[in-house]
This record gives sequence, structure tokens and C-alpha cells, in this order.
Amino acid sequence: MTMRNLHRQAPWFALAGVIILLVSAFAVFPVNAKPPTQETEKYCLSCHGDSNLSMTLPSGEKLSLYVSQDQLDHSVHSNKGIECEACHNDISTYPHPRLKYENKRELSLNYYQTCEKCHSANYEKAQDSMHALSAAEGNQDAPVCTDCHGHHDTLTPDEPRSQISVTCSKCHTDIVDTYKQSVHGAALLEDENPDVPVCTDCHGVHNIQDSRTEEFRVQSPELCAKCHADKELMDKYDLSSDVYSIYKRSWHGVDISVYKARWGAVWHDSAVCTDCHGVHDMLKTDDPKSRVNPANLLETCRQCHPDAGPNWVDAWTGHNEVSLERTPFLFYVDKFYTSFTPFILWACILYVALQIIRSIVDRVRSTL
Ligand code: HEC
Ligand code: HEC
Ligand code: HEC
Ligand code: HEC
Ligand code: HEC
Ligand code: HEC
Ligand code: HEC
Ligand code: HEC
Ligand code: HEC
Repeated sequence: MTMRNLHRQAPWFALAGVIILLVSAFAVFPVNAKPPTQETEKYCLSCHGDSNLSMTLPSGEKLSLYVSQDQLDHSVHSNKGIECEACHNDISTYPHPRLKYENKRELSLNYYQTCEKCHSANYEKAQDSMHALSAAEGNQDAPVCTDCHGHHDTLTPDEPRSQISVTCSKCHTDIVDTYKQSVHGAALLEDENPDVPVCTDCHGVHNIQDSRTEEFRVQSPELCAKCHADKELMDKYDLSSDVYSIYKRSWHGVDISVYKARWGAVWHDSAVCTDCHGVHDMLKTDDPKSRVNPANLLETCRQCHPDAGPNWVDAWTGHNEVSLERTPFLFYVDKFYTSFTPFILWACILYVALQIIRSIVDRVRSTL
């Protein structure tokens, strides 16, 4: 073969070279590259699908390494094609990298960080929560994402809605037990009533704040107003939707509003809704155990008005507009003032007007 011939055949050599390269690339890729997604799960589960697989942590605690296919199938993540490596990003083959934790709690605190990758908004919010604050102070029991959502078995957290209180009850057992007996909790748990508040309606979810501050306290009537000032909603239960607006005009309500406007000098320990009705133990007003039931009301007022005599509550109009049937004396006093005040005002105006006319007339006369 002459040099000239070789030159003429060069394009064919080049093409063959490219084909060989491509073929070898395809042959090599599946070996080196990560397996396609469904394969990862199969690969990991070839060992972790064994329900007896476990290890002993440096702390001495035993950790089951079993990952149940059944749980994965139900979780919100598997449905979206999210697999092992999306969360365990530093593990792709066996042997695995060295452990970064000593005990089970450290394992959780270490691995939950992976949620940030895809849920950064909730992760950010959670950083200023009371739960994060408590964790920062060294409280190992303060919840992180996986304490509330699980890890391989993450489900839609508010389906059914009563599930939310189950989530919180892992740690706030007493409060949830009390809530279950309340008018709100009973309606939720017995009837799955969607109109009553769950824990997160009042406390928020990922940004739960300290509820024992003055700020939370003076804002708390607005929490109730979201529903109790909603006429359409309250009509469904034959409850008054004026409780909030009348409260706002009451002595207590005005005190709290003024305090909120930061005049400072006014009482913030004036009564808010929960001082009279309770917090997690609110009951229907006709329940004999309700704090606002006539049988217990005086005692409720005496928390703050220790000298209140037995007639104290009768002189109070509560959540009611002044009316002829309920409070006839107040009704007439009110009527008297509402009609007498304008009368006096008109009389004053007339008097001043007459004075002015008189002085003008006098002046005109004196110049004549
Ligand atoms: C060949 C079997 C095998 C395969 C395949 C395997 N693992 Fe493991 N895995 C183990 C064993 C055994 C342990 C116990 C600790 C050790 O030996 O490193 C373990 C421990 C773990 C742990 C807990 C310890 C740690 O590192 O935090 C995690 C998480 C884990 N594996 C995830 C995975 C993931 C994800 C995959 C797939 C990418 C996988 N494993 C594939 C056998 C396997
Ligand atoms: C949505 C993220 C996510 C996915 C997907 C995921 N893991 Fe995990 N995994 C975690 C978290 C978080 C932990 C730490 C659990 C804790 O706090 O106890 C964990 C813990 C583990 C452990 C330690 C034992 C345990 O249950 O605590 C093993 C083993 C493990 N994962 C294997 C797997 C395998 C295998 C897959 C795929 C089939 C997988 N993981 C998919 C987030 C995930
Ligand atoms: C690789 C990205 C990714 C990672 C990592 C991840 N998630 Fe998700 N997560 C998703 C996607 C996608 C959805 C489905 C979103 C949807 O349906 O709107 C989802 C859904 C959820 C839901 C249900 C939302 C709903 O309204 O039903 C929860 C709860 C959740 N993830 C919690 C977690 C937790 C806790 C972790 C950490 C252990 C985590 N996720 C890690 C991507 C991720
Ligand atoms: C104290 C328990 C708790 C913690 C801690 C927590 N969540 Fe949630 N999360 C909930 C509850 C309860 C809901 C349902 C809220 C509702 O519907 O009122 C929810 C809702 C969600 C949703 C679906 C709705 C949405 O906002 O998109 C995602 C996603 C989610 N959480 C991710 C996370 C992540 C990521 C973390 C960690 C940074 C985390 N959560 C920490 C209790 C928690
Ligand atoms: C894993 C345990 C755990 C879970 C689950 C949990 N909490 Fe907490 N919670 C704590 C701890 C610990 C504190 C901090 C207590 C402290 O420092 O006084 C706290 C504090 C709080 C506070 C503030 C208390 C205060 O002093 O005002 C509220 C409100 C709260 N949690 C509500 C919730 C709600 C609502 C849920 C469910 C969505 C929930 N928690 C789930 C452990 C948990
Ligand atoms: C109707 C609104 C409302 C609902 C629903 C509600 N809370 Fe509260 N919660 C409050 C108020 C208001 C306070 C502040 C009470 C105070 O002044 O001490 C509070 C206080 C708390 C505290 C801190 C004080 C304490 O007693 O330890 C925790 C923890 C808490 N709530 C958890 C929960 C949990 C868990 C649920 C669900 C079962 C829940 N809350 C439902 C309004 C609510
Ligand atoms: C998410 C809406 C919602 C919020 C927020 C809410 N409630 Fe309710 N509340 C209801 C509904 C609905 C009922 C009627 C339940 C029933 O009768 O089954 C109810 C019932 C009551 C009752 C019983 C009335 C009776 O005599 O039958 C009282 C008292 C009450 N709520 C007080 C409060 C207070 C105080 C707050 C604030 C701390 C509050 N609620 C926050 C929806 C709400
Ligand atoms: C000073 C104590 C006190 C305060 C503060 C208070 N309530 Fe009441 N509440 C009562 C009493 C007493 C009753 C029962 C008699 C009545 O209806 O006046 C009642 C009744 C109710 C009822 C049942 C109404 C009906 O139609 O049967 C609701 C709902 C209610 N209150 C919600 C609230 C809300 C919301 C707030 C805050 C905005 C609040 N209350 C503040 C004492 C109080
Ligand atoms: C959480 C504490 C608290 C509770 C409970 C409470 N109050 Fe008050 N109340 C106050 C404070 C504080 C003031 C304001 C005193 C001031 O401004 O001088 C006030 C003022 C009043 C006033 C007008 C001023 C006065 O002293 O005459 C009346 C009337 C009143 N309360 C009635 C009641 C009745 C009736 C109840 C029970 C149904 C009740 N309060 C429950 C704290 C409370």
C-alpha cells in the first residue's frame, strides 16, 4: 500500500476509530457509572432488604439496618422516584464510608440534614423555631424533621388531619390528652371535623414560637378570631360570631389592644380569651366543667379579681350586646345616654348659635 493509498483511505480509518471508541465507551459506562435509579434501590436492598441485618454502634446501641420495601412503596418519596442515594449521598457502594456518629440520636441529627437539599424553605423556617432553639441549648429531645415525618416511611403529614396531633403527642403527650377532651379536640378526633383547630393552626408548624411570651399572649385573641369572628362558620354551630368584636370593645379587650400599641403603662395581664376559657381544655359553655359555666365563673374571675363579690359576674355583660331582655337596667341607662347626649349637644349648638346671632345683631344696631 503506497503512501498515497493510505492517505486516500484515512477517512475510513478515522470513522472506524470513532466507532471503536463509541462501542468501548458504551461497554465501559455501565460498569463505572451509577446504576440507573431503580437499580440503586435494588442494589442497596440486596443487603438491606434482609430483616436480620443490624450493627452495633460505638455507643453499644444495636441498630437495625433493615429497610422495608413495603414502607418505601407507601412513602411520598418513592412515588416521585427519589431513591437511596438522593438522601444517602455519600454511600454508593459497599464497603461504606466510616461512621460519622456514635449513637442513634447522633445518627438522626446527622442524616436529617439531607432534607435541606430539596426542602430548603421548611429547613430555613425551622432554624428559628422554639424546637431548634431548644436543640441549640443542648436538648437532645427537641424534634428534627425525621422525628415528625419519619425517614423511609414519610407520608403526607396532614392526612387525615387528626394525624397532626398524633405527631405532636410523641412528646407533648399530656397536652394532647387534654386537647382530646376539649370541644375542639373531641370534634376533630371523633368526627374528623375540619372546622376545628389542630395544634398547628394555633402554633404554626416549622416556625413554632415560644408560647409563654407576652407577645404570644397579647396576639392570642386574633388566633381565635380567625374562626370565631367568621359568621358563616359560626352559624353552622349556632354560635355567636360577635364574641371577638364585643371582647375588643370590653375593658379587657381595650387594655390588651392598648398594650399592643405599646403604650407600655397599661396592663397586659388583663384577660385574654384563654384566661376565661382555658387553653387546651376549652369546653362548651354549658358543660358543667367549663370554666365559664355559671357554676365556675366567679372562681374564674377571682384568679385576677380576688376581691370580687358574689354579684360581680351579674354586673358583667359578657359577650352580649346590652339588651332589654338580658340586662334591662343597663339597656335603659344606655338608651338614656344615647338619646340624652345628642339632645344636650343640639341644645348647646343652638345656644351658641343664638349667642352669635345676638352679638351680630347687637353690633349692627350699635353702628346704626
Ligand atoms: C453488600 C451489602 C450491602 C450493600 C449492597 C449496601 N449496604 Fe449499607 N450496610 C451494609 C452493612 C453490612 C452495614 C453495617 C455497617 C458496615 O458494615 O459498614 C451497612 C450500613 C449501612 C448504613 C448505616 C451505617 C452508615 O453508614 O450510616 C446505611 C445508611 C447504609 N448501609 C446505606 C446503604 C445504601 C444507601 C446502600 C446502597 C447505595 C447500601 N447501604 C448498600 C451492607 C450493605
Ligand atoms: C428521603 C430520604 C431518604 C431516602 C430516600 C432513604 N433514606 Fe435511609 N435514612 C434517611 C435518614 C434521614 C436516616 C436516619 C434515620 C434516623 O433518624 O433514625 C436514614 C437511615 C438509614 C439507615 C440506618 C437505619 C435506620 O433505619 O435508621 C439505613 C440502613 C438506610 N437509611 C438505608 C437506606 C436505603 C437502603 C435506602 C433506599 C432503599 C434509603 N435509606 C433511602 C433518609 C433516607
Ligand atoms: C431529592 C429531593 C428530596 C429529599 C432529599 C427529600 N425530599 Fe421530601 N419530598 C421531595 C419531593 C419531590 C416530594 C413530593 C412533593 C409533592 O408531592 O409536592 C417530597 C414530599 C415530602 C413530604 C410530603 C409533602 C406533602 O405535602 O405530601 C414530606 C413530609 C417530606 N417530603 C419530608 C422530607 C424529609 C423529612 C426529608 C429528609 C429526611 C426529605 N423530605 C428529603 C423531595 C425530597
Ligand atoms: C414538630 C414536628 C415537625 C418538624 C420538626 C418538621 N415538620 Fe414538616 N410538617 C409537620 C406537620 C404537622 C406538617 C403538616 C402541617 C399542616 O398541614 O398544618 C408538616 C408539613 C411538612 C411538609 C408539607 C407541607 C409544606 O410545607 O410543604 C413538608 C415538605 C415538610 N413538613 C418538611 C419538613 C422538613 C424538611 C423538616 C425539617 C427541616 C420538617 N418538616 C420539620 C411537622 C413537622
Ligand atoms: C421529639 C419530641 C417533640 C415533638 C414530636 C414535638 N415537640 Fe414541641 N417541643 C419539644 C421540646 C423538647 C420543646 C422545648 C421545651 C422547652 O424547652 O421548654 C418543645 C417546645 C414546644 C413549644 C413551645 C413551648 C413553650 O415553652 O412555649 C410548642 C408550642 C410546641 N413544642 C408545639 C409542638 C407541636 C405543635 C408539635 C407537633 C406538630 C410538637 N411540638 C412536636 C419536643 C417535641
Ligand atoms: C386554639 C389554639 C390552640 C390549639 C389548638 C393548641 N394550642 Fe397549644 N397553646 C395555645 C396557647 C394560647 C398557649 C399559651 C398558653 C399559656 O398562656 O400558657 C399554648 C401553649 C402550648 C405549649 C406550651 C405551654 C405548656 O403548657 O407547656 C405547648 C407545648 C403547646 N401549646 C402544644 C400544643 C399541642 C401539642 C397542641 C395540639 C394537641 C396544641 N398546643 C393545640 C393555643 C393552642
Ligand atoms: C380553626 C377554627 C377555630 C379556632 C382557631 C378556634 N376555634 Fe373555638 N371552635 C371552633 C369550632 C368549629 C367550634 C364548634 C365545635 C363544635 O361545637 O363541635 C368551636 C368551639 C369553641 C367553644 C365552645 C362553644 C360552645 O359553647 O359550644 C369555645 C369556648 C371556643 N371554641 C373557644 C375558642 C378560643 C378561646 C379560641 C382561641 C384560643 C378558639 N376557640 C379557636 C373553631 C375554632
Ligand atoms: C372575662 C372572661 C371571658 C373572656 C376574656 C372571653 N370569654 Fe368567651 N365566654 C365567657 C363566658 C362567661 C361565656 C358564656 C356566657 C356568654 O355567652 O356570655 C362565654 C362564651 C363564649 C362562647 C360561646 C358563645 C355562644 O354563642 O354560645 C365562645 C365561642 C367564646 N366565649 C369565645 C371567646 C373568644 C374567642 C374570646 C376572645 C376573643 C373570649 N371568648 C373571651 C367568658 C369570657
Ligand atoms: C387574667 C386576669 C383576669 C381575669 C381572669 C378576669 N379579669 Fe377582669 N380585669 C383584669 C384586669 C388586669 C383589669 C384591668 C384593671 C385596670 O385597668 O385597672 C380588669 C378589669 C375588669 C373590669 C373593669 C374594671 C374594674 O375593675 O371594674 C371588669 C368589670 C372586669 N374586669 C370583670 C371581669 C369578670 C366579670 C371576669 C370573669 C368573668 C374577669 N374580669 C376576669 C384581669 C382579669
